[in-house]
Amino acid sequence: MIILGIETSCDETAVSVLEKTRPGFKILAHTVASQIKTLKKYGGVVPEVAARQHILSMVPTLDTALHTAKIKPKQFDAIAVTAGPGLVTSLRIGVQAAKTLALAWNKNLVGVNHIEGHIYANFLDQDKIAFPAICLVVSGGHTEIILMKGHGQYHLIGRTRDDAAGEAFDKVAKILNVGYPGGPRIQALAQKGDPKRFNFPRPMLDRDNFEFSFSGLKTSVLYFIKKEYAKKKIPLPDICASFQQAVIDVLVTKTVRAALKHRAKSVLLAGGVAANQPLRAQLGAVVKKGLPRTFFHIPNLSLCTDNASMIAIAGYYHAVEKDFISWKELDANPNWELV
Ligand code: KG4
Ligand code: ZN
Repeated sequence: MIILGIETSCDETAVSVLEKTRPGFKILAHTVASQIKTLKKYGGVVPEVAARQHILSMVPTLDTALHTAKIKPKQFDAIAVTAGPGLVTSLRIGVQAAKTLALAWNKNLVGVNHIEGHIYANFLDQDKIAFPAICLVVSGGHTEIILMKGHGQYHLIGRTRDDAAGEAFDKVAKILNVGYPGGPRIQALAQKGDPKRFNFPRPMLDRDNFEFSFSGLKTSVLYFIKKEYAKKKIPLPDICASFQQAVIDVLVTKTVRAALKHRAKSVLLAGGVAANQPLRAQLGAVVKKGLPRTFFHIPNLSLCTDNASMIAIAGYYHAVEKDFISWKELDANPNWELV
């Protein structure tokens, strides 16, 4: 089966061509037109700017992917597109492109939930993930622990009450004036810093639930900077490393607690923040030590932040169930909750 994937939910215009192999999938084309250069000027995503950029990038990105994959339209078995959640003006461009192709090429169409796509990035190399699985979804817009009992069976265990983990990285990066996008900048600076130098709060860590809150942590970094900078210059690497460690401690502890409680056979990491190396390493180490019989999965680095291959993988699992939608019915749903 060959799937065309399209993703435009936020600021990346992405197209993928994916072929089912055993085990897993072969990526024939993985094209991402990043808007980082444009959005850097604004310090973040501006929906109208992102949408205009998608319009400019959509057709060239598609053209590049088709040429790279050397696949003819008639070879596609289905078209999978992100239908939500995300920015409505951005989503609509990918959805319209997918609908147009489905009509013109007479192809089956799948509307994929963006968060489901992030989770399915873990399925690139394998067909079997042992269920029940605990998924830690950490992106710019979401921070959730999801219990997955089987394909398409999701139960919400806990989520953030305010900022998402990626949002906290981005906002702290803005406070520290270290550039955009925040997550990778903070990770790079943190590499040279001491994560134990400053003891930032670990919000909700001692609460007996699976909820998160990162807004207070961001504010405490802000107050700390205001106070300390007045006295003397504080090394940015130590602040970045200490902040990053506070986020990781909360994410790792709560995920492992959830895995123990729900007797998870697998732990999956998903979303843009899954690209964070210390988070990948520390969650892996704690799962290995505390849950030795539980499998630990992390997506390939290129599949952590927004991309269309993850949408195509999730699309494949819908396509085998013939879970298609007519181009007449598909619409962008910016508030589509997976659970
Ligand atoms: O999943 P994603 O690409 O977009 C959304 O669906 O939101 O996630 C983007 C988020 C941003 O907040 C970005 O700062 C964060 O993922 N991120 C990281 C890293 N790479 C991306 N956060 C921490 N460490 C990283 N290496
Ligand atoms: Zn995402």
